[in-house]
Amino acid sequence: MQKEPTILSIETSLDDTCAAVTCGTRVLSNVVSSQTKYHAEWGGTVPDIAKRLHQEWLPKVVDLALRKAGSPKLDCLAVTIGPGLAPSLEQGITYARHLASKWDLPLIAVNHMEGHLLSSFATNKNGKPVRSFSGCWPALGFIISGGHTELVLMKEMGVYELLGETLDDAAGEAYDKVARMLLLGYPGGPILAEMAKSGTPRYHLPEPMTMRKDLNFSFSGLKTAARQFLEREKPELNKEFIQDFAASFQKTVFKHLMTRFRRAIDLYSPKMVLLGGGVVSNIDLRNLTRSVAKEYGIPTFIPYNKKLITDNAAMIGVVASYKFARGEFSDPSSLDRLPNLNFDKSDTILSPLAKI
Ligand code: KG4
Ligand code: ZN
Repeated sequence: MQKEPTILSIETSLDDTCAAVTCGTRVLSNVVSSQTKYHAEWGGTVPDIAKRLHQEWLPKVVDLALRKAGSPKLDCLAVTIGPGLAPSLEQGITYARHLASKWDLPLIAVNHMEGHLLSSFATNKNGKPVRSFSGCWPALGFIISGGHTELVLMKEMGVYELLGETLDDAAGEAYDKVARMLLLGYPGGPILAEMAKSGTPRYHLPEPMTMRKDLNFSFSGLKTAARQFLEREKPELNKEFIQDFAASFQKTVFKHLMTRFRRAIDLYSPKMVLLGGGVVSNIDLRNLTRSVAKEYGIPTFIPYNKKLITDNAAMIGVVASYKFARGEFSDPSSLDRLPNLNFDKSDTILSPLAKI
């Protein structure tokens, strides 16, 4: 059996400074140093602050990841090259390039979205390596995060087709923005979701894009509808109202997500579903997705722990292990950040009003 490669991965696509050591799909260490509190007073990620903190923290975070993994002999390095914030990506790439040269190791460039997509394949350090997926293709990937909302068809390992994506805001972004209107702090998505648990969805918010029968998403109209409701009705933002409004917002988000999810299953008959991205931390959403997939007899996979759902470097290491096996290495000197990197778009995306 081929030896699994031990890989040190770096991920700095937004505002988390991350490093991890993986051996194949086994996670030996996974360090995430969150910058959230440094950006909170600005209500969003400030590029200059993110850049400076990544630069300052990377050596320490990498060192910690190596020590936690028992300082193993490395076979390779991996780094996120996009999508993300250019100054943030730049810091991770520069440091990975420096380490590759210092330690004379090969380097693998990884797409952050592929990391989220394969995050369910990660196992703990005693886990069995996940090798064979024969009979599991195609898989349907559903990535729902603060920056992206995407349906991806995985035809086999390493072969992807973007089926649909958000045309404006991402789902997590909408949670955060509506949470801000309700004065719930930053990032408010998880708080809003928590409030929704105790609420009754008594307010009507319009479901986005009901006329479009494609696989794309839109959350900006919903956000605007929420703002207009609050401006028009001027409700007292007491706990009961916030809970009910949060439940109403979340119900509409789920409806929009599930309409597209069902449509993708109907069209592509996947054999498994892979969930990833920060919004998947939402247990109600996870349960709903799983139950819809179950109706079709399809199993749903999610990362084995919470840290693998939000941005992290272990998921980058998992992708890199498959790229290592395929010999997909990058020349460090020509490595560049790709802030808009995505999966290849499908040329079979349905026309906006196609009937299915
Ligand atoms: O994947 P992630 O860590 O970062 C990006 O790549 O964007 O996702 C972060 C997003 C934020 O918008 C956050 O509000 C949202 O995930 N989020 C949630 C929940 N937990 C995190 N949204 C809804 N419900 C949650 N429980
Ligand atoms: Zn992400």
